[in-house]
Amino acid sequence: ASAQTAIHIDRNAPTGTIQPEIYGQFVEHLGSQIYDGIWVGPDSDIPNTDGIRNDVFAALDALDIPVIRWPGGCFADEYHWRDGIGPERTPRVNMSWGETPEPNSFGTHEFFDLAERLGAKTYLNVNLGSGSVREAAEWLEYISSASNSALAQERRANGRDKPWHVDYLSIGNETWGCGGNMRPEYYADLYLQWATLIKIPGEQPYRILSGSNDTNPEYSAQLLRHPQMGWAADAVSLHYYTLPTGDWSTKGPATGFGEAQWISTIANALKIEPIIERQLAANDAAAGDDPPALAVDEWGMWVDGEPGDPALYQQNGIRDAIVAALHLNVFHAHADRIAMTNIAQMVNVLQAMILTDGPRMVLTPTYHVYAMYRPFQGAAALPVSLESPEYRLGNSSVPALSASAAIPADGGLVVALINADAHADHAVTLDVGSGRLVSARVLAGDAMDAHNSFEAPDAVSPRPIDVARKGSEASLRLPPRSVTVLRFE
Ligand code: AHR
Repeated sequence: ASAQTAIHIDRNAPTGTIQPEIYGQFVEHLGSQIYDGIWVGPDSDIPNTDGIRNDVFAALDALDIPVIRWPGGCFADEYHWRDGIGPERTPRVNMSWGETPEPNSFGTHEFFDLAERLGAKTYLNVNLGSGSVREAAEWLEYISSASNSALAQERRANGRDKPWHVDYLSIGNETWGCGGNMRPEYYADLYLQWATLIKIPGEQPYRILSGSNDTNPEYSAQLLRHPQMGWAADAVSLHYYTLPTGDWSTKGPATGFGEAQWISTIANALKIEPIIERQLAANDAAAGDDPPALAVDEWGMWVDGEPGDPALYQQNGIRDAIVAALHLNVFHAHADRIAMTNIAQMVNVLQAMILTDGPRMVLTPTYHVYAMYRPFQGAAALPVSLESPEYRLGNSSVPALSASAAIPADGGLVVALINADAHADHAVTLDVGSGRLVSARVLAGDAMDAHNSFEAPDAVSPRPIDVARKGSEASLRLPPRSVTVLRFE
């Protein structure tokens, strides 16, 4: 492409803080995520600290993960916390995901240990589907009581003296589906009952109401119409997955796809913005003066698995990196209303940061996006405008470019630029003020399905990119299929 696209950043009009929690993660007992991916047990030959593998931990630690949601997902509605505490764990099978063995060796202590070591906040999804309000209330007491109650003493006997902190609590998951196929009226009543009776000593928990997906915006709205929901829901969740084809029966493969599935994936990822806007409008109309925040606590790429792979294991390439970056740019643009998001999921499941195979580990292109976007956590979002060139294929067309900018917590300016065009590079100019350029990195793939493997772990990894500077104007050429992040002083 020859024309230059001018990107305007209004550095004087921040629109809101990008909550670090927008960079949250989701860890469900599913496939090889917990067992093999994170937890190998203290006796494993794979180097570990108290059972958590050291290689995966170090990679996650570098991302400054703000919050982790656990234990599901659909699995949360079959999880009974007592199975996973103490010296004797209760083996079960994972009925939500392929009836695989669930040894329960990763339980409450192991999750809170992981979060504490990572410095991440904790987001617990309690079991509304097959549990009881008593079971959930006792779990919260076990975790967070500093008293001498029998439950707090039991926690101490199991090796943890100090209480842990539950930062976010979801009561129910996908209650319109795997969480119980409930009518909104029924779930709203149950939610209120549970919200009344599940307590954290000395404070009001931050409660999240399990809301709509992309197809049923009225579900959240109906929940919010419950006359008492105002005090009980700090946030309401939204789930949206990007499927290459948009069709749950044939989602499309992770690699080896053609350009039609490249452009349809980009188009489907971009739908997150109208989905968020429509949901916010529905929530606002239902909730009145003080609407809850939005928690997009499941999102990301979902493709067809390969035969023989663990449940929901999928390869992750430059296409995934672009999908992640497009979502993050949209979340920044709505930073004033989005309290948290949790990409699905952290290791070996769906759009993962990390893939493992026995003792081997590889960082995915999505991991690199999270690492490059790190300065956006807690930054002040800035308005950005551009007239993007169209990227076309047949009758399909999407904007080729997306941009986001913010003032990081420690000052300066950070700019993210995406070129989703499968073939053309695009030249851009931007007015960045007087700050010195301190880093300029691009993540690009040499093919639409370029990805990292255990044999070639750095095939898609950040590299320096040239930026020309004339006074306050920076200009650069964005290669096709790329994500670029610039950091100015
Ligand atoms: O992330 C995988 C699954 O997707 C979750 O368990 C469920 O909540 C959603 O349907």
